Amino acid sequence: MPRVLCVAGARPNYMKIKPVMDALERRGAEVLLVHTGQHYDPAMNDVFFADLGIRPPDRFLGVGSGTHAEQTGRVMTAFEPLLGEVSPDLVVVVGDINSTVACALVTAKAGPLLAHVEAGLRSRDWSMPEEVNRVVTDRVSDFLLAPSPDAAENLRAEGYRDDQIHLVGNVMIDTLLANLDRAKASGILDRYGLTRGEYGLVTLHRPANVDDPEILAALLKALGEIAGRCPLLLPVHPRAAGRLGDVGVPGGIRLVPPAGYLDFIALQDSARVVLTDSGGIQEETTALGVPCVTLRDNTERPITVEQGTNVLAGRDPARIVSTVNRVLDDPPAPRRPELWDGRASERIADVLLAGAAASTRPRPTDHGRTPPI
Ligand code: UD1
Repeated sequence: MPRVLCVAGARPNYMKIKPVMDALERRGAEVLLVHTGQHYDPAMNDVFFADLGIRPPDRFLGVGSGTHAEQTGRVMTAFEPLLGEVSPDLVVVVGDINSTVACALVTAKAGPLLAHVEAGLRSRDWSMPEEVNRVVTDRVSDFLLAPSPDAAENLRAEGYRDDQIHLVGNVMIDTLLANLDRAKASGILDRYGLTRGEYGLVTLHRPANVDDPEILAALLKALGEIAGRCPLLLPVHPRAAGRLGDVGVPGGIRLVPPAGYLDFIALQDSARVVLTDSGGIQEETTALGVPCVTLRDNTERPITVEQGTNVLAGRDPARIVSTVNRVLDDPPAPRRPELWDGRASERIADVLLAGAAASTRPRPTDHGRTPPI
């Protein structure tokens, strides 16, 4: 059975890597978890490990924050010797954060097979660092594990071979479905004094929305107008924390600390509407059948618009207000895309173990580290 090194670095990775690790272990693979430390605050980290029942990482790289180059470079520098030491047959990276692309680049040059979970998503917006990370990670991966038919189609259009592309479904939904009952019992609505269906939930963290005070102020003004009709709850991401204080938050918008996984699923599940600039939340709201208004001009997850409850509102304040009003008057019908069935990680484990067994690449234990070209 292969030795598999799984990589996680930041909040949106944990719920994606957990079911993949479990499915691989159930089939007898030796699984190791490395945490790069891109996110390090307890509210962004420890609570997710506890909620999801992830065991402590086998290695912690502790890279922390920095510019994109600093963060990516630090992950690469710390990951390279680890890879040499652990000699995995296969490395699994998830999502689109800086840790994903950093570990992918190191792996591609070092020799092990590389799998990308959530391959093929494309916003076609090169101003998003995540788009760069996605495209580069896919380019150097051996196994491209696509969550939706549009993602598989993007990969085909970019010239990847059919035998690299595996349409497996969405692992985030595996974790969501596995934890939904526990989430509903989290008690967060009582703790915040909220009533199901009577509040809106907001998340904001993209640099394009929160880094420029003028843009953030305009967004908050729009949210203030919406709050007049539907009170809003906003769990604050560390990136946005200081800036929200500087700009000033209108009445009707309640700021709370970042929520843990179970609490946040419960908050989404009971919300009348969710307003977000996140990627994963577009998917979770679609799976839960809760209306979602995305505060971005584009999405790498178009299936949530075509087959789910997501509506793109862009970043123009007047359009955001009119879109939310329309969604509150006439909520989109709940539908769940095919293969978002809670079994994506099982399909992934089958693909990876069959692929590793069939691979003719020399095992790292046979050849040590690949010498530089
Ligand atoms: C990262 C990901 C983004 C993902 C998001 C989810 C990249 C390029 N971006 O963005 O795709 O949607 O995580 O949260 O990888 N900070 C803390 N505590 C922490 C983590 C970060 O205070 O635990 C602060 C940092 O000091 C920094 C800011 O938050 O100033 C941004 O953190 P960073 O990990 O660089 O990017 P995110 O905006 O969180």
